[in-house]
Amino acid sequence: MKKLKVFSGCTEYGSEVQAFKDRDHDVTLLGMCGDVDITMDIRDFHTTEHYDFMTFHPPCTEFSKANWRAGKCKDRTPDMSIVEACFRIVREAKPTFWMIENPQGCLRYFIGRPQYCIKYGDYGHYCQKPTDLWGVLPWFASYQKNNVPLGVHNKTAYSDGPRAADKRAMIPYGLSMVLCKAIEDSQQLEG
Ligand SMILES: C[S@@+](CC[C@H](N)C(=O)[O-])C[C@H]1O[C@@H](n2cnc3c(N)ncnc32)[C@H](O)[C@@H]1O
Repeated sequence: MKKLKVFSGCTEYGSEVQAFKDRDHDVTLLGMCGDVDITMDIRDFHTTEHYDFMTFHPPCTEFSKANWRAGKCKDRTPDMSIVEACFRIVREAKPTFWMIENPQGCLRYFIGRPQYCIKYGDYGHYCQKPTDLWGVLPWFASYQKNNVPLGVHNKTAYSDGPRAADKRAMIPYGLSMVLCKAIEDSQQLEG
């Protein structure tokens, strides 16, 4: 199997690409803290290296509907510089597949509707967590049944899940796995 070259920007734990690591692909993590390969502000990062998959996880605080103090989407003036940097990196690096992820909230009001609306609960998260994905991805939904431990998806938010904000931002392993398998298969087809 071809070794995939994978990049994750705005991360700390690299949860979104854990399955890629476990399946021995070549993974680079960029973030401001944590056990990452490149510690830097993504707004200063440039690359023209080719990646099979680039994924970005900009902080959601300013876009979150849970942040009711920030008001309605139309009344917000969030700092878009990190999200803009993610789009710029995609333009510069031209990856085969890419994704920008954010909890369903106000980001779609500023950058348009996402290509995918999913629920993390369907991928093994401890609560439903509706999430938007923008980008170019191979069809991954059909991989779900075989790879995700079902039966943990309908628990009430926070009933037994972690409350710490940084841990809440972790992506369920099931999503990482279905993305990994879908990208592996699409690359295989290309030969
Ligand atoms: C929503 S969390 C994503 C967490 C990720 N899913 C994980 O498994 O660690 C956003 C991450 O972006 C990082 N971050 C915030 N501002 C950044 C910046 N300007 N450049 C790079 N990373 C940044 C934060 O430290 C945080 O780890």
